[in-house]
Amino acid sequence: MFPKKDRFLRPASLWDLAELCPYAAVVTGPVFAFSEVFDEDYLYFYGPHLEAVSDADTETVWRLLQLEPGMEVLDLACGHGRIANRLAQRGVRVTGLDATPLFLEQARRDAAERGVEVDYVSGDMRSLPWPEHRFERIISWFTSFGYFDDTENRKVLSEAHRVLRPAGRLLIENNNLADLLPRWLPAVVVERDGDLMIDRSTFEPATGRAVTERTCVRDGQVRRFTFSVRMFIGVELKDWLVAAGFESVDLVDHEGAALAAGSGRMVSVAHKAVFEGLTARLKAACSGQVKSSEMRRVLRPMRPEEIDGVVAVQEEGAVAAFGHIFPQDAHPFPRAEVRQRWAYELSRSDVQCFVVEGPNRVVDGFVAISGNQLLHFGTAKSTWGSGLAGQAHDEVLDHLREQGHSRAWLSVLEQNGRARHFYERRGWVPTGRSIQSRFPPHPVLLGYERDLTEP
Ligand SMILES: C[S@@+](CC[C@H](N)C(=O)[O-])C[C@H]1O[C@@H](n2cnc3c(N)ncnc32)[C@H](O)[C@@H]1O
Repeated sequence: MFPKKDRFLRPASLWDLAELCPYAAVVTGPVFAFSEVFDEDYLYFYGPHLEAVSDADTETVWRLLQLEPGMEVLDLACGHGRIANRLAQRGVRVTGLDATPLFLEQARRDAAERGVEVDYVSGDMRSLPWPEHRFERIISWFTSFGYFDDTENRKVLSEAHRVLRPAGRLLIENNNLADLLPRWLPAVVVERDGDLMIDRSTFEPATGRAVTERTCVRDGQVRRFTFSVRMFIGVELKDWLVAAGFESVDLVDHEGAALAAGSGRMVSVAHKAVFEGLTARLKAACSGQVKSSEMRRVLRPMRPEEIDGVVAVQEEGAVAAFGHIFPQDAHPFPRAEVRQRWAYELSRSDVQCFVVEGPNRVVDGFVAISGNQLLHFGTAKSTWGSGLAGQAHDEVLDHLREQGHSRAWLSVLEQNGRARHFYERRGWVPTGRSIQSRFPPHPVLLGYERDLTEP
């Protein structure tokens, strides 16, 4: 019954099919027939192609979402776990949710073979089984969004927003309609070992949906069904994401370059606001809890000519706070070495150096950050007890959050009780790791960690 002479049919690559036939699972009628689309035939026809691209897809996800080992990541509609399992191999804590038991079984088998742990959950993306603030990143990869009517599609976005932590991100990868429409093919065929999958698709501008009639021919058996999926011009999906509560959205291609009309695929990275940080302080200021004068930012980039002033602040604080650790007669403050280190760090693009500017607009402190590590932080002795250090600290955390970090690290002298108390009161917890200072008499430095998703 397969119409071999259909004039629309032509051989196609699997990639064409991936673009034209996005595996939507909403039948044009009222029944949601995702089991028709996501079944053994899907794995059979798509398996080889997906296997070939999964390493590259995982690398793209890693880069675009700035993943780090230890992060809590949800793969939403994870399918047979091809990306979830690879992310777990890179040290991410992955949860995979999908509605197809067959795919979840395969995902669990593959995880066991790879020796990784992924929490695979059977569920529906319209109603997620977690409380709010559960994940740092969410992935919806390979046209896994757009299967329902518009109200329910929007529900998927608001559910993702709900379970993301502040500063969390949602990545959606799907077709780029602007690229697809001008080269739309009315039919696409995939062949594997003599079996065929034939999709005839039309685009409905009034609903934004691609409607596909699929015919699978395997071992002489013919199965035919219809499904449709919502498609988006970038700006429309961006509007939807903002309406779902996201603060901002980047539209890019797989390389991370700005989305163009000809980009083969569209990636939307939506950012959840850091409302425990700056916004909360702004709200507090508006409600009068914090004086507006206190809202002035106290960190600004350090200039090379300020190094001497910074070293003077640092020396005075070091002598006062840990003279007992570095007795000055035996181990005087290593002024020249510290000056040299600032000059070196200022010259590096991977270290960010700031001065803390107090109310008198003089150099009242210093900060250096590399990645998510707080390398140096201190304020002038004359400002201790004024709240300046606390304000600078909060700004440092906001800065790290704005750069997409979800946790931060620092080390502090074990015997510097004042500093340890300062950090512990502000949510830092010991990691249990320690090292020795390189400055004689080489006292012990304790590692501390801060969850930046907490206020
Ligand atoms: C095109 S596949 C993509 C799978 C995976 N993201 C990948 O890149 O291989 C879409 C997935 O959505 C799942 N799915 C369909 N409806 C769903 C629903 N209501 N809730 C959760 N998952 C669903 C299907 O089972 C299928 O695994």
